[in-house]
Amino acid sequence: MSGPDAGSRPEAGSRPEAGSRPEAGSRPEAARRVVVTGAGGGIGAALARRFAADGAEVVVSDLDAAAAQAVASEIGGLAAPADAANEDDTRRLIELAWAELGGIDLFCSNAGMLSVGDENTPDDDWARSWNVNVMSHVHVTRHLLPRWLDQDGPHRLLITVSAAGLLSILGSASYAVTKHGALAYAEWLRATYAHRGLIVQALCPQGVRTDMLTRGETSGSASSTMLADGALEPAEVAEVAAKALDGENFLVLPHPEVAEYYRLRAADTDRWLGGMNKIQRTFEGGTR
Ligand SMILES: NC(=O)c1ccc[n+]([C@@H]2O[C@H](COP(=O)([O-])OP(=O)(O)OC[C@H]3O[C@@H](n4cnc5c(N)ncnc54)[C@H](O)[C@@H]3O)[C@@H](O)[C@H]2O)c1
Repeated sequence: MSGPDAGSRPEAGSRPEAGSRPEAGSRPEAARRVVVTGAGGGIGAALARRFAADGAEVVVSDLDAAAAQAVASEIGGLAAPADAANEDDTRRLIELAWAELGGIDLFCSNAGMLSVGDENTPDDDWARSWNVNVMSHVHVTRHLLPRWLDQDGPHRLLITVSAAGLLSILGSASYAVTKHGALAYAEWLRATYAHRGLIVQALCPQGVRTDMLTRGETSGSASSTMLADGALEPAEVAEVAAKALDGENFLVLPHPEVAEYYRLRAADTDRWLGGMNKIQRTFEGGTR
């Protein structure tokens, strides 16, 4: 996977003049210099579009170079192909964004993957999910915090987790586990660095209508069926995220009912798990 080297960048002239876009900071406290991973489609593209509409300079990063370039061209941003699971790619992405934008105010660590399966999911697939859904955030902070901590801020890290990180999910053991890991890491960051100018927030939607729900492997699975129920459009999720960035609430919940489900899970875990198993049996045909 190619990293965001100079060759992968568009010519400076391919970005619109600053004057053709809204003034940065048209919303009070709006982040001016933004990086979004997994921004070639889905939720990441919606975040990139939303922040650009607010006047931000956006670095659009994605595994898929053409998808990143298409979104970057649309919003007047900078495309940066990178695999979020690869530490060298992430280091180069941060260096590139910092150099091009003169700093980073908001990093949206958004790229993630869903692999359908159970305990028999091959170890290599577990490792890929772990790297994309958890280590990507570790790598971002490893290379960004030395630039951010104790410097003039605020510095914002928005980690796209999932309601699956709060509540679990059926049909994908690796997603259920790694999204809990992502949430745990976001919590740890917030608890450890809140007093040093770092604002960490966890975006935890339930279903969102993106390729993740419809691509061949996941389509029709228990995971995608659970997520499809009540699914939002990516732009709706981006709107909730943008509003949340006016404040500092840790959990950003585009589906507000998730807060109540989270309380129920904590208050009566056995009952919660019994309810999840009931849904599982429904997927299996309701015979057990
Ligand atoms: N779609 C949902 O229902 C849903 C619900 C909750 C949380 N999420 C989370 O939201 C985030 C975005 O999900 P989505 O549905 O927009 O995804 P998606 O599958 O639609 O992919 C969006 C983009 O991410 C890119 N991408 C995939 N792996 C990457 C990697 N390793 N490095 C860089 N880019 C990569 C893809 O090329 C694609 O352009 C993920 O973390 C996902 O787990 C999604």
